[in-house]
Amino acid sequence: MDFSFLPKYQNFFLNGMRYTLILAFFTVILGSLFGLFIALMRMSSNKVLKGVSGAYVEFIRGTPLLLQLYIVYYGLPDLGIMLPDFPAGIVALSVNSAAYVAEIIRAGIQSVDKGQMEAARSIGMKRGMAMRFIIIPQAVKTILPALGNEFITIIKESSIVSVIGIHELMYNTDTVKGNIFSVFEPLIVAAILYFLMTFGLSKLLGLLERRMKTSD
Ligand code: ARG
Repeated sequence: MDFSFLPKYQNFFLNGMRYTLILAFFTVILGSLFGLFIALMRMSSNKVLKGVSGAYVEFIRGTPLLLQLYIVYYGLPDLGIMLPDFPAGIVALSVNSAAYVAEIIRAGIQSVDKGQMEAARSIGMKRGMAMRFIIIPQAVKTILPALGNEFITIIKESSIVSVIGIHELMYNTDTVKGNIFSVFEPLIVAAILYFLMTFGLSKLLGLLERRMKTSD
């Protein structure tokens, strides 16, 4: 193994990592907001909203992210919606993540025992009030760890957008491979960097989780 290419090519890796983190950052925010929206639709009593959001979640989870990215980047231009690569990547990742986030939120809220709502209602709380003060605070404890896992998944799945030419870590690793005519070492470097990002985030989330436990 020969890592002597590193000083010369370190910026490829660092810039790639920066792009990966920027992609993940926007996806986490947009995906969570959109996912919350879908989850609210799923839990509403309106049949149409319920149907549409249910179909959305099933469809997105039932098709590959790669295909969804192709539809956004290569398909939408046919409808006159032309997105540059970076926004297209963020849209595809967010649209994908939203379906998973919606399920995480729905499962979290439904995991709170029915009796909690009944008890709150029986002491005179309105539905919205019971939701806000009784159900959501308990649901959050299930939702947050699962949401953390989703954020880690996003860092890894963002590597898919390298196929449309976004210069994130995976793409830049390929560039280094081509430049130095060797494959193994750049891939090992990329693996270590991805691992540092996901492991770092997981440690951070673990810290937050422990903080929340102490408030119990
Ligand atoms: N790679 C898989 C796919 O192509 C999983 C995507 C998972 N996405 C997520 N946001 N958890 O569908």
